[in-house]
Amino acid sequence: MGPCVNVLISCIHRFKGKIPWYTINLDSAPHKRWNQLISDKKVEVCDQSLVVPIQELILAVCPSITFLEILVTLFHTLFLFFQAPLVDTLPFPFNEEIKGIADVSGLPLGEVMFFNVFYEIFTVCTSLVAEDTTGKLYHARNLDFGLFLGWDIKKHSWEIPEYLRPLTVNLDFQRNNKTIFKSTNFAGYVGMLTGMRPGIFTLTMNERFNIDGGYIGIIEWILGKRDGFWMSFLTRSVLENATSYAQAKDQLTNTKMLAPAYFILGGNRSGEGCVITRSRKACLDVWELDLKHGSWYVLETNYDRWKDPLFLDNRRTPAMKCLNETTQKKISLPAIYDVLSTKPVLNKLTTYTTLMEVSSGTFEAYLRDCPDPCIPW
Ligand SMILES: *[C@@H]1O[C@H](CO)[C@@H](O)[C@H](O)[C@H]1NC(C)=O
Ligand SMILES: *[C@@H]1O[C@H](CO)[C@@H](O)[C@H](O)[C@H]1NC(C)=O
Ligand SMILES: *[C@@H]1O[C@H](CO)[C@@H](O)[C@H](O)[C@H]1NC(C)=O
Ligand SMILES: *[C@@H]1O[C@H](CO)[C@@H](O)[C@H](O)[C@H]1NC(C)=O
Repeated sequence: MGPCVNVLISCIHRFKGKIPWYTINLDSAPHKRWNQLISDKKVEVCDQSLVVPIQELILAVCPSITFLEILVTLFHTLFLFFQAPLVDTLPFPFNEEIKGIADVSGLPLGEVMFFNVFYEIFTVCTSLVAEDTTGKLYHARNLDFGLFLGWDIKKHSWEIPEYLRPLTVNLDFQRNNKTIFKSTNFAGYVGMLTGMRPGIFTLTMNERFNIDGGYIGIIEWILGKRDGFWMSFLTRSVLENATSYAQAKDQLTNTKMLAPAYFILGGNRSGEGCVITRSRKACLDVWELDLKHGSWYVLETNYDRWKDPLFLDNRRTPAMKCLNETTQKKISLPAIYDVLSTKPVLNKLTTYTTLMEVSSGTFEAYLRDCPDPCIPW
């Protein structure tokens, strides 16, 4: 019997879909480095995800339009209208990369930018760092995508994860033909939500919902106050240019951002694992592994650890219960995969699961599927 012995076995769904690998060469010009990937995925990028008019989805499926949806529609229209000047306000190399992706895919620049800036706002996830009894560090995540957007009544699934599954890719970023970092990502998206610098650190980002949060920062940025970082651009910069756990932690803790977020960071030595809870301007909490006091894992879904999760969306308690039952002695990547395959940690929104082990450089990602009965989120 696997882990989570008290959980019904039928609750664990171990489907593992294949995800292709691509190399992104950081030595080539930013507007060219995505060419190969985008030309391979052109059909999926154009037909499926990017051009799905978000407003139509929202209007078709959600009869009661919320404040959030109106805002998203407004931003989408703005982006399409002011596309070129807006893209030019993004920092290098992101501006150039987005232009390159628009050129190769043939999509409007504003649409590619919208995808890059807004999709991260709709992710709900589970991320964890765990240490085994020999001091090995494991980092894993489920990316659950598309809350608030399109539920496909016929297929019993959310439309957005359906669109995103074919866009999911593993990326190997190289300089001088040597791997700098690896990431699971969506074709067309230049920020990072999940990544590893082999031998050095592992990093994932989870959405932190906050009414005051994102929108104010994004509106300020459109109006010209641009001293904050887009969140997934920050994770990309850290993965690309930070060379130690300490440096990564410092940047993730201290950089001013446009919206709040959780960063889950693992290092390469015993005790190096933490969840950083960020508001736009400050670090609210750093929750670290504490082996001496029995904390051999840290786990984050989408709620501050000092608060109860939303009662409708409690993935934290089941995931922790599974980890507790697994025990530190038996923790391993397959055991963690089982934890992340247990409903409702696995749900209809789950798009992929990534497993990382920093010291060996293991980086595996799988497409997920959650057959009925499965809760929608
Ligand atoms: C990388 O490898 C390719 C062939 O695999 C070679 O043509 C190229 O010169 C190498 N680039 C660098 C920067 O070493
Ligand atoms: C990483 O650093 C290099 C060299 O300073 C810079 O050219 C590059 O734009 C940086 N990458 C990111 C994503 O910020
Ligand atoms: C761990 O990371 C540090 C940088 O923080 C690096 O100097 C060291 O070589 C790494 N250790 C191993 C075993 O790779
Ligand atoms: C898991 O174990 C920790 C440490 O013993 C405990 O604080 C926590 O309440 C447990 N959580 C669950 C959901 O069982």
